[in-house]
Amino acid sequence: MTLASPTGVPGSRILGLGVHRPSRVVPNADVVDAIDSSDEWIQQRSGIRQRRWADDHESVRSMAVGASRQALERAGLAATDVDCVVVATVSHLLQTPALATAVAHDLGTDHAAAFDISAACAGFCHALALANDMVRVGTAQHVLVIGVERLSDLTDPHDRGTAFIFADGAGAAVVGPSATPGIAPVVWGSDGEQYDLIRQREDWRDVVGDETTPGSGRMPHLVMQGSPVFRWASFTMAEVGRRALDRAGIGIDDLDVFVPHQANMRIIDAMARAMKLPAHVRIARDIADQGNASAASVPMALDRMMVEGEARSGDTALLIAFGAGLAYAAQVVRVP
Ligand SMILES: CC(C)(COP(=O)(O)OP(=O)(O)OC[C@H]1O[C@@H](n2cnc3c(N)ncnc32)[C@H](O)[C@@H]1OP(=O)(O)O)[C@@H](O)C(=O)NCCC(=O)NCCS
Repeated sequence: MTLASPTGVPGSRILGLGVHRPSRVVPNADVVDAIDSSDEWIQQRSGIRQRRWADDHESVRSMAVGASRQALERAGLAATDVDCVVVATVSHLLQTPALATAVAHDLGTDHAAAFDISAACAGFCHALALANDMVRVGTAQHVLVIGVERLSDLTDPHDRGTAFIFADGAGAAVVGPSATPGIAPVVWGSDGEQYDLIRQREDWRDVVGDETTPGSGRMPHLVMQGSPVFRWASFTMAEVGRRALDRAGIGIDDLDVFVPHQANMRIIDAMARAMKLPAHVRIARDIADQGNASAASVPMALDRMMVEGEARSGDTALLIAFGAGLAYAAQVVRVP
C-alpha cells in the first residue's frame, strides 16, 4: 500500500514582514565606561553608533507578538490563517515550553503547530528555509517565521568584546503559497570545528551548582573570540552568498538588494567587496543604529530598507545570516 504524499504548490513567498524595535536607544557613550572604550573606537571597529535595548516591559514574548501582528496586517491575513509558528531565538530564558507556543496563543492561533529553533544569528534564515519547504510541500499553508532576541539579558556590560555589539528586537515574516517561487533554495551549513567561538560562558548547572560544588550564581553571559569570527565571516560568507545566487539561478547583476546579518559594518563591507557586488545593489546597514540583534537582525534590516524606500516590492534580495555554531544560512527572496 502506498502512503499518501502531498501534492504541494509551485512556490512560496514572504507575504508580509513586521518588526518590533525596542524603545531604549542606547548610544555608545552609555556603554564605553564599563569597557574602557570610546565612541570613536566602537564606530571605527564595528560601525555601531547606538543600539536598541528592550525596556522592562519588552519581553521576547511581547516583542515577537508585536512584530507578528505587523507582519500579519501587512500580509492581509488573520492570526487564524497561520497554521505553523516557528521562533528562532537564543534568549528565551525558559528552557521549556517553546516560546512559539506562547506567541501562537497570544496571537489567537492556538491550533497552530509551534516550536522554537536554535541557530543563533542564523536562526531567521534557517526558519525561513523550513517555512519555504513546509509551504511548498503542503505541510502548512501559512507559516509565521519569527526572529527575536533580548541579548541585553545575556551580555556582560563589562566584557570588552561583546558589550557594545549585542542588541534586542524582533522581526517576523508570514510565508505562504505563491504561483511563482519567491524564496529560492537555501544554502546552509555549520563549521563545527569552530563551534564554540561564540557561546554561553557556562550552562545552567554551573550557575546553580550541586551538593558538592557551589554554583556561580551569575547570569551565563555570551562570550566571543572576535578576531577568528571576523575572519571566518568576512571570507567564508561571500562564497556562501555566491552559492545562494547559483541555487536561485540568477547572476549577481540580477540582484537588487543585499541583506547580510548585521554583525559588524566591517564584515558587511568585506563581504560586499569579496562578492564583487555591483554598484547598483543596495546594502542593508541597519547595524549603525540597531546593533547586532542576532536572529532578529536580517528581518529588521530588510524592514528598514523597505520603510526607507531602498528595497521595493518585487526586488530580488540576497539574505545571509551567520553566527554561533558556527551556523550559517543564505537564500534569495523576493521583497514582499
Ligand atoms: C569585536 C571586534 C570589534 C574586536 O576587534 P579586534 O580588532 O579583533 O580587537 P582585538 O580583540 O584584537 O583587540 C585589538 C585592540 O583593541 C583593544 N580593544 C579590545 N576591545 C576593545 C574595546 N571594546 N574598546 C577599546 N579597545 C578595545 C584591545 O585591547 C587591543 O589593544 P592592543 O592592540 O593595544 O593590544 C572584532 O573582533 C569583531 O568585530 N569581530 C566580529 C564580531 C562579530 O561580528 N560578532 C558577531 C557574529 S554573529
